[in-house]
Amino acid sequence: MDIQKILVTGRMFKELEKLALLDTKREYLFLPETEVSSNHFDWADGYVAFKPTESFHFGKLRWVHALGAGVDAFLHNRAWKEDVLLTRTVGSFGAKIGQYCLSYILADVQHHQKFQQYQTERLWQPSQQLLLQQLRIVIFGTGTIGMEVAKMLQTFGVTVYGISRSGAPIAHFDRVVSLKDANLLLAEADWVINTLPLTPMTDKLFDKHLFSCMQGAGFINVGRGASVDETALLEAVDLGQVRRAVLDVFQEEPLPAASPLWSHPNVTITPHISAVTGVDEAMDGLLAVLEDMDNGLERIRHSVDVSRGY
Ligand code: GLV
Repeated sequence: MDIQKILVTGRMFKELEKLALLDTKREYLFLPETEVSSNHFDWADGYVAFKPTESFHFGKLRWVHALGAGVDAFLHNRAWKEDVLLTRTVGSFGAKIGQYCLSYILADVQHHQKFQQYQTERLWQPSQQLLLQQLRIVIFGTGTIGMEVAKMLQTFGVTVYGISRSGAPIAHFDRVVSLKDANLLLAEADWVINTLPLTPMTDKLFDKHLFSCMQGAGFINVGRGASVDETALLEAVDLGQVRRAVLDVFQEEPLPAASPLWSHPNVTITPHISAVTGVDEAMDGLLAVLEDMDNGLERIRHSVDVSRGY
């Protein structure tokens, strides 16, 4: 694939300027999102960004590269132009998300909140903790991120179940079932982790029905906010179907100040930070794609299957 003129935007556009020094064959334009106009898409055949700008249109584009792992900002509710290649960043997201999840799971089994409270009351009140080896955790999504999370949890002795489209067995999961059989595993789950991308299939997947299959599980969302019906989640928390929710992604971001999620005692909110793209991994991903293009490869690394949405 012969790409010649690349428009680079997004929060790290400045740091990515060194790309032009590493790749002198191509012309580059580095701009903040606010300065990208419709005309730029009639100039560029390559576009590198976290998301489409307001002025985005396919114009002359033949390649789009997402600086994040998720590509829903590009694909969801948009008719993709068939001959435009979409690639994405596959960095250390699995490890970052795994450690994010582990931190909340450990804090929970070690009763951090409770002992913190006891300390303020000068209360000496021992209790026992569960071991990670006693936990059953269900991970929605067995792709690169889900599998990395599973691997980390399995290392600590957790029994890890996976939910995928096919339900086919995959490394680091003790058992995998397909989406339609998810309810079989949810009743026994100590934690449920969503790592799924947002696609038409996963839009509002976590609804009243799915939450009602849980019996006191903790729920961690590191996938996409739109996969969760937030009203149904709050109801499930109030009913005890979900014991605690740890949410990094939301239907609307930033989470509006009026959202009842902010103040719920059993909800933990983080501002979409479980796997932030680093400049080095963004650069590595881009260089890998450009190298494959230069080598005329048919299968370019980090390509997205647009029909699947990930
Ligand atoms: C973050 O959510 C990403 O898509 O990288």
